[in-house]
Amino acid sequence: MNFEQLAGERYSLRQFSPEPVEAEALARILKAGRIAPTAANRQPQRVLVVNDRAGMEKLAKCTKYTFGAPMALLVCYDATKSWIRPFDGDNAGVVDASIAVTHMMLQAADLGLGSTWVGYFDPAKVKAEFALPEGYVPAAILPLGHPGPGAAPHPRHFERLPAEEVVFYNRF
Ligand SMILES: Cc1cc2nc3c(=O)[nH]c(=O)nc-3n(C[C@H](O)[C@H](O)[C@H](O)COP(=O)(O)O)c2cc1C
Repeated sequence: MNFEQLAGERYSLRQFSPEPVEAEALARILKAGRIAPTAANRQPQRVLVVNDRAGMEKLAKCTKYTFGAPMALLVCYDATKSWIRPFDGDNAGVVDASIAVTHMMLQAADLGLGSTWVGYFDPAKVKAEFALPEGYVPAAILPLGHPGPGAAPHPRHFERLPAEEVVFYNRF
């Protein structure tokens, strides 16, 4: 699959098979997150692989969006390690973590697996349930697995704004 096909075919998978994710596939997905670009190459992304029943039960206390996936990745960043823009103090951690998540989503799709970026979670519960180290900020939850029977993109997947609403040349 070339990149255009991959980006075009990826969609948020919300119907998972209980089949586990193969160790080699998981290793490739994690690598894709590890080699993602980060601000000043600080690499503040911290990925927790949640792949046992106890972990998935804890995750279900933090979000209603686990979709029955066999596993998930909890992607955080270490805010004490991420780059701070000197002009305004902006912490690049969430951007870095987001690029890592995007890399992992696309790698998963390339392997025939699926995921959905879940931002609807209670950060306080995530911190408590998973005992996040001091300074770790949860950025995304990524339920991950094989598509279940009849899995298909949500109709809104096909809704994209026209280019003229999102792309501008030389001035907004
Ligand atoms: C930052 C972010 C947060 C999201 N949070 C959720 C979520 O909590 N639950 C959910 O079902 N989908 C969530 N999504 C998935 C979006 O709804 C989805 O990407 C969008 O509707 C486009 O559909 P597509 O991914 O199939 O192209 C999130 C996506 C992003 C980028």
